[in-house]
Amino acid sequence: MAETLARLSIGDLDLEEKHLFVRVDFNVPLKQGRVIDDTRIRAVLPTIELAVERKACIVLASHLGRPEGERRQEFSLRPVADTLSTLLNQEVAFVEDCIGSEVKERVKTLQPGRILLLENLRFHKGETQNDPDFSRQLGGWAEEYVNDAFGTAHRAHASVVGIPQILGRGAAGLLMKKELEYLSRVLLHPRHPVVAILGGAKVSDKIEVIRNLLSFADTILVGGGMTFTFFKAQGKTIGSSIVEVEKVEVARELIRSAESRGVTLKFPVDNLVAQECQPGVKTHVVNAGSIEKNWMGLDIGPCTIEEFQEEISRARTIIWNGPLGVFEIDDFARGTVEIARAVAQSRALSVVGGGASVSALVKAGVQDQISHISSGGGALLQFLAGQTLPGVEILTKRETKE
Ligand code: 3PG
Repeated sequence: MAETLARLSIGDLDLEEKHLFVRVDFNVPLKQGRVIDDTRIRAVLPTIELAVERKACIVLASHLGRPEGERRQEFSLRPVADTLSTLLNQEVAFVEDCIGSEVKERVKTLQPGRILLLENLRFHKGETQNDPDFSRQLGGWAEEYVNDAFGTAHRAHASVVGIPQILGRGAAGLLMKKELEYLSRVLLHPRHPVVAILGGAKVSDKIEVIRNLLSFADTILVGGGMTFTFFKAQGKTIGSSIVEVEKVEVARELIRSAESRGVTLKFPVDNLVAQECQPGVKTHVVNAGSIEKNWMGLDIGPCTIEEFQEEISRARTIIWNGPLGVFEIDDFARGTVEIARAVAQSRALSVVGGGASVSALVKAGVQDQISHISSGGGALLQFLAGQTLPGVEILTKRETKE
């Protein structure tokens, strides 16, 4: 896989007065026509600033939500142009479509160092269908193509693979480059012990990730709702905790597979339980696997926190994806927040991804103490599962000795 990660990057391109197509991931939350979390926009500022400095004529393109080929105002990228203008302290022009005669004209007359943001790519079905005709209309005019949308690299869409295919060349943006560098360090050349922390509600989302982690991790710490599918597989009592009955057999197979490979698959030894998943309800701690009827596990317990902290403190590489409890509700957030602190305090190279784990870092105020916070959700999981990402595969390979 190593050779698949070394890619041409924006820094290698001669951009002066070139029409540059930049695929970004501005799939950001909006409320009443305003951007309420600009993390993804800030993440690509270095790429845009470099392109401005090098006097490219910069055209930015992104999707937002899943409008399924229809023009729907609530998915318009216009508010993003405003946020971006403020962040860059430079006007970012906006055009109400991503293909067509007006777009062509605006692109043609764009001056070096200036920026134009196109309307949501997914207002056209051709984007998700990777329609070659749509790709030609969208980016046929481009002299260079840069992809800085790691979060969308698992989608074989027109703006992700279609355009670089047509141009015969594509480079990684600075965010994409950083993601690939860190991810290759943890996946291809990790320092041992490697400790992976996996949470989240469903085991079904993580099966392939666990399978792949078994090939190189030393310890996998399991928390969150998916624990209970494993507990069920071990014949433990889980009360009314969330469970995926149809995945119990897979959970059993993963436990067996970890044993035969000598990987420690560690589960909670205690859980915080409640009768309802609501703020302010009565809670208590029980030994894992002995949850009474009508009670459900909603967080890891204090002994588990201690055991997990100990494993984390010994790690030299940490990969974390998914919350360890129903972290959105304060009463059930302690486990996730304590683990966030432990990861931050560790000297290991740490990579954290996934919306809830990143929010937990922010809640614990330790986001600056993590080696790398990935901007990818689904893309990161696909990567951790050892699968190739079409948006990375298509970028021009760089000669490497690795
Ligand atoms: C994400 O938010 O994970 C990316 O922007 C991809 O969005 P999608 O799942 O709608 O393709």
